[in-house]
Amino acid sequence: MGKFFISPRKLPSIHTHIAMPTRRRLVVSLSLATLLLLSSFSLIHSKTPSQNNDDNNNNKDDDHDEDLSFLEEPDDISPPPGSHLNHPDLDHLDDDDDGGDFDDFSGHDPSADEAYKEPLVDDRDVVVLRERNFTTVIENNQFVMVEFYAPWCAHCQALAPEYAAAATELKSDGVVLAKVDATVENELAHEYDVQGFPTVFFFVDGVHKPYTGQRTKDAIVKWIRKKIGPGVYNITTWDDAERVLFSESKVVLAFLDSLVGVESDELAAASKLEDDVNFYQTVVPDTARLFHIDPKAKRPALVLLKKEEEKLNYFDGKFVRAEIAEFVSSNKLPLVTTFTRESAPSIFGSKVKKQLLLFATSNDTEKLVPEFKEAAKFFKGKVIFVHVEMDNEDVGKPVADFFGISGNTPKVVAYSGTDDGRRFLLDGEVTVDKIKAFGNDFLEDKLKPFLKSDPVPESNDGDVKIVVGNNFDEIVLDESKDVLLEVYAPWCGHCQALEPTYNKLAKHLRGIESIVIAKMDGSTNEHPRVKADSFPTLLFYPAGKKSSDPIPVEGDRTVVAFYKFLRKHASIPFQLKKPTSTSKPGSESSDVKESQASSTDVKDEL
Ligand SMILES: *[C@@H]1O[C@H](CO)[C@@H](O)[C@H](O)[C@H]1NC(C)=O
Ligand SMILES: *[C@@H]1O[C@H](CO)[C@@H](O)[C@H](O)[C@H]1NC(C)=O
Ligand SMILES: *[C@@H]1O[C@H](CO)[C@@H](O)[C@H](O)[C@H]1NC(C)=O
Repeated sequence: MGKFFISPRKLPSIHTHIAMPTRRRLVVSLSLATLLLLSSFSLIHSKTPSQNNDDNNNNKDDDHDEDLSFLEEPDDISPPPGSHLNHPDLDHLDDDDDGGDFDDFSGHDPSADEAYKEPLVDDRDVVVLRERNFTTVIENNQFVMVEFYAPWCAHCQALAPEYAAAATELKSDGVVLAKVDATVENELAHEYDVQGFPTVFFFVDGVHKPYTGQRTKDAIVKWIRKKIGPGVYNITTWDDAERVLFSESKVVLAFLDSLVGVESDELAAASKLEDDVNFYQTVVPDTARLFHIDPKAKRPALVLLKKEEEKLNYFDGKFVRAEIAEFVSSNKLPLVTTFTRESAPSIFGSKVKKQLLLFATSNDTEKLVPEFKEAAKFFKGKVIFVHVEMDNEDVGKPVADFFGISGNTPKVVAYSGTDDGRRFLLDGEVTVDKIKAFGNDFLEDKLKPFLKSDPVPESNDGDVKIVVGNNFDEIVLDESKDVLLEVYAPWCGHCQALEPTYNKLAKHLRGIESIVIAKMDGSTNEHPRVKADSFPTLLFYPAGKKSSDPIPVEGDRTVVAFYKFLRKHASIPFQLKKPTSTSKPGSESSDVKESQASSTDVKDEL
């Protein structure tokens, strides 16, 4: 996929706040950005009409002797093909979210330029790389961090002072921090598949991996030191011990018989698998005691200490790297994490993918969070418990919207993680027992997914049937009907351009019982049988084959092309009667009225 942009006004506040004064703290992981982006404004890529000529040619055989021009006759108010290409919202967005890159999906936001004057950053320790000296620098240095940036990108500007300070601090560690202006070095950017700004990589002996931590000096320094360091540090004196306990908010201590050897090696290896917890080892019983390990305990013993509540977790597995790392990753998060920009990366970056989210307003926090916490104890390492404060203006609304939650009554949502993205809703009272039962059903896959859905319309007898999440099965999966479904979004220009054509098609076909022409607002409704990665997406669900994947409708977006498509793919054959007289008879007046009505509709919508 090439370049893609999304217009800034559609970004959720979590992203657009970036130009505001608290910039430094606005660190959002890609996962969250993706999560939020995928939600409300999907991924548009325009399919140019007429790209699918092959299909049309094949169809010609069926239809070449048929004059279909009558289909287009009542004034076609759809814009000429291609005119939508001028639409200012021609948004392109790649839906590939597997990487750990930091993607600044907001593209060039001119308003951010006005609001933001680049501060003078002393970045003398940041090495400037160009195409011609890039390879040399990577080859001659064991550790190089490279930031691909664009001068206009506000996230990059926000990162600049942090990055410069990290460069200065890490100089003595033999780490090079470098930057590449990706708007100049296109080939380098292309070679490293840079799709957004800033994209930050860390090269160790020439091998790179994305930097996925927070964009602050401290986070960068800590992350790099972890990658280049010995993995595990010794605590030999009381002073060491106090300093560590004082300065770290989460720490692992192993109480060993020896500072070298197999156990120490396993510990060091486990440490390398963890990005944000430092590992220490000691052989001194008094140090162990200070870290709440019984000095008489059988060695090796290991504890994870957290400043947050719960504080102590004792490891009782086999003393090998995988088990230690697993133990740390499942216990390092608090029982309940409150959703904030800062906590988002650890929530979505966790190895534990399944989540239970409590949505409650601050009024209910005091009552419900303790219940939620109590339940969380039973799911450690299996499910992450997250509290979303619905009235938190920063994150509450975008997150609630993403999960399709509205209103002020508390709700618990189970979320299967970004990979398959299924959601389940706990109905009714939020108590420890209810949450436990719900969580267990969730783990055993016994719940029925919760769908984002508008209310089912009370009457639905227009030519174009309205489909929502909750009537999808009934309308689209009706085995006795051939169903054409348009998935659209209200703000999507292509969809608006298509509307008159689509309405006209539906009007022509309204007499045909076996065919349903339907549309669904994909920004507020969902169903597992719909995969729409762009708007509009047109899908055809043939009668009698509802358990197969729908057929995507590509090619021209004209009434004739749609009609031919239906003729070709419908399970139940049908034939439209050409009006007996092609000249304008009396019946025409009603046609005119209807098309006028629909043209008014279109104007209202635009
Ligand atoms: C790489 O080349 C650019 C342009 O010639 C120069 O400004 C920069 O200092 C060079 N960097 C290194 C590390 O040599
Ligand atoms: C810890 O102590 C051992 C034994 O003295 C030593 O080999 C090792 O290098 C020390 N580790 C660090 C990080 O200083
Ligand atoms: C919280 O409670 C107060 C007092 O009952 C009420 O005025 C307020 O609207 C409530 N806030 C929310 C977000 O429900």
